[in-house]
Amino acid sequence: MFHDLLQWLQDVPGATDGDPATSWSQQFAGSLHLWALTEGTHVLSLILFAGTILMVDLRMLGIAFRSVPYSTLNNRVLPLTIAGFALATVTGVLLFLSNPVHYYHSVFFRAKVIFILVAAANIFWFHYRVQKNLAEWDTRPSPPLAVKLAAGVSISAWILVIVFGRLMALSFFECENMPKGTFGYAFAECEPVMRGIEELEAQAAEEEAAAAEESTEESEPAEDPAPAEEAPAQQEPEE
Ligand code: HEM
Repeated sequence: MFHDLLQWLQDVPGATDGDPATSWSQQFAGSLHLWALTEGTHVLSLILFAGTILMVDLRMLGIAFRSVPYSTLNNRVLPLTIAGFALATVTGVLLFLSNPVHYYHSVFFRAKVIFILVAAANIFWFHYRVQKNLAEWDTRPSPPLAVKLAAGVSISAWILVIVFGRLMALSFFECENMPKGTFGYAFAECEPVMRGIEELEAQAAEEEAAAAEESTEESEPAEDPAPAEEAPAQQEPEE
């Protein structure tokens, strides 16, 4: 269902005369500077976002800023984390829309989304459970184990999001390269992708066969060619 919706999104909106190559999605993917600018902004926003998260996580682990109360540090950097996350999400969604079918069936994109969800669940668990007794450990250089655990999960999940984000640009583990029946093939829901490729290949083979047939018909001389008409004898101009 999602495959068909994303295929439509990739081919139809903005297309001139039904030509998918002119859709907004494909124009954005093929743009000279816009795509690169969007990806550059995505990466720069991650520095802001992941950098500030790392500061808070290291404080929660009792490794850095041990003399600064947790709440003081968190209140200072949280607006930057939120701004970085908002920018990363907006630019990430735009990049996704440049080639939605490809990313939707990417093993690495799926893994990345799973770990974004893990990190989000960890934030909620920390906020609603662990942070309840904040007053007890706010100024302690080394917070309790539950706080350290939340920080460990956060750092690990975001590192995996960044690693999978980087791997998305590489072509291994794409549907065309994975044998049927493997975990990756099922995880990326490769069936509709391969069906599409087979249909395109069959169509190309048909067109090639038709073109070959046409060219043999043209090159073969007709069996009984009509005798060429004799050119009328040129008359001498009368003087
Ligand atoms: C908020 C946390 C996020 C992190 C930490 C993250 C991380 C990354 C990283 C490290 C890259 C690779 C950049 C490069 O090396 O060129 C990347 C690219 C990308 N990200 Fe994200 N991302 C995040 C959110 C999102 C979201 C929400 C989406 C879409 C729903 C998204 C979609 C993409 C796409 C489509 C690419 C381009 C991959 C390519 O080069 O083909 N990202 N991301």
